Amino acid sequence: MYIKTDKTLPASEITDPAIFSRRRQIIKTLIAGAATFATTSAIAKEQAFSGNTAANLLPTPAELVENYNNYYEFSVDKAKIKTLAQAFNTDPWSVEVTGEVEKPGRFALDSILSRFPSEERIYRFRCVEAWSMVVPWQGFELRRLLNWVKPLSSAKFVKFTSVLSPEAMPMQKANAVLSWPYVEALRLDEAMHALTILATGIYGEPLPKQNGAPLRLVVPWKYGFKSIKAIVKIELLSHAPRTSWNLYAPEQYGFYANVNPLVPHPRWSQSSEHLLGSDLFTPRRQTEAFNGYGEHVAAMYSGMDLRHFY
Ligand code: MTE
Repeated sequence: MYIKTDKTLPASEITDPAIFSRRRQIIKTLIAGAATFATTSAIAKEQAFSGNTAANLLPTPAELVENYNNYYEFSVDKAKIKTLAQAFNTDPWSVEVTGEVEKPGRFALDSILSRFPSEERIYRFRCVEAWSMVVPWQGFELRRLLNWVKPLSSAKFVKFTSVLSPEAMPMQKANAVLSWPYVEALRLDEAMHALTILATGIYGEPLPKQNGAPLRLVVPWKYGFKSIKAIVKIELLSHAPRTSWNLYAPEQYGFYANVNPLVPHPRWSQSSEHLLGSDLFTPRRQTEAFNGYGEHVAAMYSGMDLRHFY
């Protein structure tokens, strides 16, 4: 079972009753998802992997996750994004997969969702701004989609592009903050890692618009800005592309952006974090290397010096 209770869990990590009552539904989804996943992954000849590596994680209250957002296309004010995002139309939606692949194409979201059924993954999520949360995502492993389009041997990186929709997105219209559209990228081995998912929902419901509907990336061992929202394009490339935050301030936002308590942001420490929902009297949570997923991902960075590497 993925969710266990733990009497030693700090009060700050215990979920409110409204969320608690939804856990039955979450557990049901988990069981159903696990069954589907076992079958479909066998077909795809991919090794099954339980992404819920931290069995004691309890979700952050949904109200917080859905009302405190970073989505710069809409606003720099976290509390305004939910309202502003509602006018943005996410249906119909398609994703173009292109570049160094055998089977490029533009795929309707419905056909992607029917080909790759979603399962539940409960992950820690750590923003570079030093707040964090625990989110029960629905989604599927990105590697399943990549294997389906068959990367060529020349493919070394995967670039993701968010939607460009200035009519619906005030900050794009004002040409403010970043140069649009929002772009992120992973090395191919990071993109093919079993922990990396394309999310379609949270808390057993379709992904809210403010959280990146209808399809977003989730890379739990990296700072949150890598987890790009509202993806319209996935490109396999032979070289590393420039990415939005890295272009904006390379000394603040590294390409890798692996969660690393040893390397401070130029303006604040990354050694601890504020867990959303915890009060002023609760000590901050100590940030873990790779956000606690080092056992699964550290080997990908074995040649790199983690005392300086961000
Ligand atoms: N994706 C797009 N397209 N635009 C953004 O501004 N913000 C990033 C990431 N993905 C962002 C984005 C940052 S900084 C974070 S911390 C997370 O989304 C926040 O996700 P959430 O609002 O679901 O918590």
